[in-house]
Amino acid sequence: MMEYAIEIQNLTKKFGSFTAVNDISFGIPKGKIFGFLGPNGSGKSTTIRMICGVLSPTSGRGTVLGYDMYKDTERIKQNIGYMSQKFGLYEDLTVDENLDFYGSIYMIDAEELAARKMELIEMAGLAGKEKALAGTLSGGMKQKLALGCALIHRPKVLVLDEPTAGVDPVSRREFWKVITELSNSGITILVTTHYMDEASICDIIGFIYNGSLITMDTPEGLFNKHNTRNLEDIFIEYVSKLSSKEVELSFKDIRIKRSGV
Ligand SMILES: Nc1ncnc2c1ncn2[C@@H]1O[C@H](COP(=O)(O)OP(=O)(O)OP(=O)(O)O)[C@@H](O)[C@H]1O
Ligand SMILES: [Mg+2]
Repeated sequence: MMEYAIEIQNLTKKFGSFTAVNDISFGIPKGKIFGFLGPNGSGKSTTIRMICGVLSPTSGRGTVLGYDMYKDTERIKQNIGYMSQKFGLYEDLTVDENLDFYGSIYMIDAEELAARKMELIEMAGLAGKEKALAGTLSGGMKQKLALGCALIHRPKVLVLDEPTAGVDPVSRREFWKVITELSNSGITILVTTHYMDEASICDIIGFIYNGSLITMDTPEGLFNKHNTRNLEDIFIEYVSKLSSKEVELSFKDIRIKRSGV
C-alpha cells in the first residue's frame, strides 16, 4: 500500500455560505513534490491552512504523517515546515538571528541548533552573510533564508505557498534545485506556484478551480492525455471548458425561470 505523508478526504471549507474548498481528496506519497496549481482565489491557501492545522475544516478528513487534522494539530505544526510568499522574516534581525529565532520557537537545544544553522546557511548559499540584516538581502537570498527558517526543526513535510512569487528566474532555478535535493532526501513537499516551468518539475500536479480539484496527474500523464507539453494550454483548456459549462448552466437557469417552471 502506498504510504502517504499527506492525505485528505472530502475536505471542505465554508466561510458562511461561500464554499472556498469543495470536497477535495488527494494523497501525497512520502518524498514526492506535489504542485498545487490553480487561479487566484481557487482555494489553494485555504487547503494549505487546513493541512497545516491552523484552520479547522467544515467537513472531511485529513492526516499529515498519520496525525489527524482535527485532533493532532500541535503534532502537525511540530512536524511541518511552512513558508509563504510573505516571507515571515524579521528584516531588522541578522541572518543568524532569524535562524536563532525560529530555532527558539521549536525549542531546539543550543548544540543542535548551531549544527543545524551551519547546514542551512550552507544550503541557502548564505555563508559570509551571517551578520547581514535580513532586510538588506536580495529577494532571492531572503527567499532562501526563509526556506532555511522553515527547515530549522528538520520537518519531514514542507509546505510552500507561492515561495517564488516575484523572484527572478535565476534565483527561482536555484531555489528549485534546493527543493529537488530536499525531496531526494525524503522530505515531502507541497508547493503552490503560478509558474508552469516550476509545475513541470513536480512529481504530481493537482489543479484546483473554484474550490474543486479538477485533475491530478504526473506532468507526463497530463502531457500525454492532452497531446501537448504546454501545461499552460492544458489548464486554460480545463478552465475554458468549465467556465463555458458554468455559463451554460446559468443560461439554463434563466430559461427555466423565464418559462416559469
Ligand atoms: N477567512 C476568510 N473568510 C472569507 N473568505 C475567505 C477567507 N479566506 C479565504 N477566503 C476566500 O476563499 C477563496 C479562496 O481563497 P484562497 O486564499 O484559498 O485562494 P488561493 O487559491 O490561495 O488564491 P491565490 O492564488 O490568490 O493565493 C477566495 O475567494 C477568498 O476570498
Ligand atoms: Mg494563496
